[in-house]
Parts: sequence; C-alpha cells; structure tokens
Amino acid sequence: MGVRNLEKSQSRKPQSTLGLLALHVSVDESIHAAAKNLEATLGRLDVLVNNAGNQIQPRLLAHGQLREAFEINIYGTVILTQTLIPLILASQGKNIINLSSELGTRQLTTHLKDQGGKVWSFCPGFVVTNLVGQRKYRVAMGAQSSETSVQAVLDIVEGKKNVEAGTFIGRYDVRIPW
Ligand SMILES: NC(=O)c1ccc[n+]([C@@H]2O[C@H](COP(=O)([O-])OP(=O)(O)OC[C@H]3O[C@@H](n4cnc5c(N)ncnc54)[C@H](OP(=O)(O)O)[C@@H]3O)[C@@H](O)[C@H]2O)c1
Repeated sequence: MGVRNLEKSQSRKPQSTLGLLALHVSVDESIHAAAKNLEATLGRLDVLVNNAGNQIQPRLLAHGQLREAFEINIYGTVILTQTLIPLILASQGKNIINLSSELGTRQLTTHLKDQGGKVWSFCPGFVVTNLVGQRKYRVAMGAQSSETSVQAVLDIVEGKKNVEAGTFIGRYDVRIPW
C-alpha cells in the first residue's frame, strides 16, 4: 500500500502481510521511486487501486485548494497510472480500480436546486476538433462532426434535457451510467 507518511503508517504496526511503500501522488519523484521499487521487488502489479483523493470544501474555495485537489485527484492519479502500466501489463490480473464519485454533480445539483439551478455532466463523444492536434487522425478513425455534440448542448440550453439534470449524458439521448 502506498502511503504519504511511511513512518506514521509503520508506527501503527499494521498486522497481516501488508507491505507499505512511500508514495505521494502529487510528487513525480515519489511516483517514479515507488514504480522502481515495485519493479525491483515484485516485477508486476496485479491490481492498482487508485484511492488517494481529497475533497474540495466549496465554501473555502480558492485557487490553492482547487490546484491541490487537481494535483491529487486528477494529475497524480493519471501520472501514477501511466507510470505503472508496464507493471500492470506484466501481471496476470491487469486490473485498475479507480475510486471515484458521482457526488460532485449531484452535490451541486442539490445545492442549487432550491434556487432553480441545474447541473449536467456532458460527454461530447468522439468528434472532430483540434483536441491535441489530431484532426486528421480523428477523421480517419470515424469521429463524427462536432455539430452533433453542439446540437446536444443546444438541447440542454433549450430546456429539452431538464428532466435529466443531475445526471451524466451524451449525444443522441445517451444516459451514461455513473
Ligand atoms: N468517503 C466517501 O464518502 C467517498 C465517496 C466517493 C468517493 N470517495 C473517494 O474514495 C477515495 C478514498 O477516500 P476516503 O473517503 O477514504 O477519504 P480519506 O479517509 O480522506 O482517505 C484519502 C486517502 O488519500 C490519501 N492521499 C491524499 N492525498 C494524497 C497524496 N497526495 N498522495 C498519496 N495519498 C494521498 C490520504 O493519505 P493520508 O493518510 O496520508 O492523508 C488518505 O489515505 C477518494 O478518492 C475519494 O474521493 C469517497
């Protein structure tokens, strides 16, 4: 198990065969050191459980807190996962479990409901845009026109998706399970 404070975790003297590894997911050097350690000691990783996370307190929100939340919840998890992929693929299981949450959109929905606010999570789908400069590749891979996504956003704006506020939706009336 990766932990930020190795000494503190070791002092709890966890019973069982649990092994501890220093890991701070917001620090590149720590991620690379943990990956090297795993490679040298185990040579593989059957299951990666991305559990590290923190929660933003909306009332105290400032750039610093938001940056820290992204460092842990998004950047750290993505960098750690990408770094460990060779070890995961070297295992039998090849499993990745991301502890996540549908709470963000729902929480905001509840928070704004009494004031008539509505919140959707929307996936635009695989469409042709300038995203990471892959326009030609996207066309070749069968991506559709971005107008299909825009139409779906327009449907939300025009109130056609009001009953689906608080959910995760996509184009073509698709409801994406959380
Ligand atoms: N609890 C819920 O209701 C709930 C609901 C939906 C999703 N989740 C998700 O479930 C996961 C676990 O949350 P939890 O409820 O168990 O919260 P928690 O008790 O606060 O645990 C969060 C864990 O993340 C670790 N962590 C934070 N920043 C880190 C960093 N930079 N590097 C490495 N580890 C870091 C913490 O380590 P330290 O011990 O060193 O602080 C702690 O062990 C989170 O991803 C959370 O978003 C929780």
